[in-house]
Amino acid sequence: MDGNGRWAKQKGGLRIFGHQNAITAVRETVEAAAEAGVRYLTLYAFSTENWSRPAHEVMALMQLLVHTIRKETPTLLKNNIRLQAIGQIENLPASCQKELAEAIELTKSGSGTTLLLALSYSGRWDLTQATKRMAIEVAAGRLHPENITENTVAGFLSTAGIPDPELLIRTSGEQRISNFLLWQLAYTELFITDLLWPDFRREHFYEALRAYQQRERRFGKTSEQLTVS
Ligand code: IPE
Ligand code: MG
Repeated sequence: MDGNGRWAKQKGGLRIFGHQNAITAVRETVEAAAEAGVRYLTLYAFSTENWSRPAHEVMALMQLLVHTIRKETPTLLKNNIRLQAIGQIENLPASCQKELAEAIELTKSGSGTTLLLALSYSGRWDLTQATKRMAIEVAAGRLHPENITENTVAGFLSTAGIPDPELLIRTSGEQRISNFLLWQLAYTELFITDLLWPDFRREHFYEALRAYQQRERRFGKTSEQLTVS
């Protein structure tokens, strides 16, 4: 979700004005995903690197997070959505952690879409924490290096048990991954739109789904191999 700052600048406002106006995009995208039957939707809401922004912007983003979670929990319940979070949640202000934990608890029996909030998240952090935990298991004699497979690694990532994303949508035209789900995105289809995130609406989400449907996912194979059943 990128482009809030530029959106605000275009309107002559402060960056936080852009963040405030991004909530509609979040709500419409989450609802559209739930209605379309998307099983997992991950929102990269705050990266490890975002902590380096000016303190007042970080604080405003955290406050917005608390208010939004509180305000939108009924929308999640109405749409049968289960909320979860990945990232260094312990680094968030106590008020955010509390609000998040409450919303996760309240929505835990949601059997439709799982909404994953990536907060204080980065792909390198995820790989590092997984490596550390695997090393602990090896040192304790519970995991043997020769038995480590790709599935083992995936099982130690914060997304353990969650399938790899099929589609990544990035707004604001930037053509980079920005330390998102580095391992998990190996074969994900990318959809990049020039729209700034606060302008993103339900119809743009559908447009991304339609583009995805036109893609041929070969996973390293040839096109001919895919047509032979
Ligand atoms: C995305 O918009 C929101 C967050 C990272 C929290 P930006 O704040 O990165 O907006 P730009 O890139 O400056 O336009
Ligand atoms: Mg940005």
